[in-house]
Amino acid sequence: MSLETVSDAQPVTHRTTEEIQALSDKAVMMTNRDYLLNVHCVEHGISQRDIFTKARVYADMASQLKATGVMQYGVPIESKPGPTVTMEFFGQKRTMIMFASNDYLNLSTDTRVHESIRKTLSNYGVGAGSSRVGTGFSYLHKDLEAKLAASFGKEAALLFPTGFDAISSPAVTLCSEKDRILVDGSSHACILEGAYASGATVRVFAHNDPERLEEALRRSEEKLNGGGMLVMVEGAYSMDGDISNLPAFTALCKKYGARLLVDEAHSIGVHGKQGHGVVEHFGLQKEVDMIAGTFSKSLGATGGFVAADKEVITYLNYMSRKIVFSAALPPILVAGVKAALEIMETDNSLREKLWDNVRHLAKGLKEVGATILGIETASVPVMIGNDGVMFRFTQDLIKEGIFTFPVVYPTVPKGKSVFRLALQSQHSKKDLDHTIEVFGRLLRKYGIIAN
Ligand SMILES: Cc1ncc(COP(=O)(O)O)c(C=O)c1O
Repeated sequence: MSLETVSDAQPVTHRTTEEIQALSDKAVMMTNRDYLLNVHCVEHGISQRDIFTKARVYADMASQLKATGVMQYGVPIESKPGPTVTMEFFGQKRTMIMFASNDYLNLSTDTRVHESIRKTLSNYGVGAGSSRVGTGFSYLHKDLEAKLAASFGKEAALLFPTGFDAISSPAVTLCSEKDRILVDGSSHACILEGAYASGATVRVFAHNDPERLEEALRRSEEKLNGGGMLVMVEGAYSMDGDISNLPAFTALCKKYGARLLVDEAHSIGVHGKQGHGVVEHFGLQKEVDMIAGTFSKSLGATGGFVAADKEVITYLNYMSRKIVFSAALPPILVAGVKAALEIMETDNSLREKLWDNVRHLAKGLKEVGATILGIETASVPVMIGNDGVMFRFTQDLIKEGIFTFPVVYPTVPKGKSVFRLALQSQHSKKDLDHTIEVFGRLLRKYGIIAN
């Protein structure tokens, strides 16, 4: 049978308005490939003989959801980043209070960072031109790596093109079939990607639970046959609103001879005396084997790094495909990140304003009856629970000039849907108060709290 015949045998039906509304409950399919492939296509008897069939199913669903306003992913932003931005909904430009950006300290628009990038541009150009082990390495890269190593309390550091690459690469590069990798149940996709791509046996332990990690370590140790163990956790979990129990985890890793990697993506700029993250917050720089992070959140740019012992960094540098076969971070970004890092370390007022906003929003939301999952991170996760209302709730928020994403199954378990409100140091109290008032009203409208 030709591929064309296979595709034609699976016509994509046109849905009624009711069916589209029902789809909104299932709009989770837009965010999870596995759900689409393993649940949706199977449930609807859709053959996957042609690898493109699923793309047609997805495109059809996405366009219908977009047309009805149910799907708000990937709406272009028309202004510079900040606490309020201009977005277009149904042909109308609107000013929106932005709660979906991770530019926590607003360093993306800091003029000191821009100045440093401007100066670098004329001397170094735009792109690195080659990989880090090729000719893409400059004194700027060398200097930032040395600074990162010193700032994060490790012997050496290595720059990666993205945070995703930095956090997934150590597992892929250091582990293989004979090893075991244990990951937290709330782990970001890059941790899972690295763990599974390595070929090691992967075990997931209950979120932030040292007892379950110990159980997993004990079992894994018994089954080890010539390999080793790696544990991967995040410093701060922005969907759960809590920080990692690193004192317990470092002790367990030591006890069972496992290496520990901490992904500080959401904690850099937010936690620790100088903003170096949760490892700094607990003073565990020596105990944590690999500290990894991204420049795309508090540091307002893009790129990532791993800091560790010298020999581990050398090994990663020459063995990691993301280093050897991918162009190095552009010099202009290296200069921008260095400037942002220095501001983050020396200007505590940005962090203080951010935390003041976190406390203000969380307190106000609690007062209007919202359930907040945790208040240890720069994002306030508001529990909704009822997956079915999430997309209509989001549309109402948009009408009120508030932008955030609905977080639903399978990103979180069924019935545990949340709105993750990411704060910025430049959010105004007026905008936060408006958000609190709107949430109070909508939580009642959708029966999440009693009238
Ligand atoms: C916890 C976590 N780790 C890693 C990353 C990847 O970072 P980047 O987007 O800079 O590649 C993200 C990005 O969303 C993240 O949330």
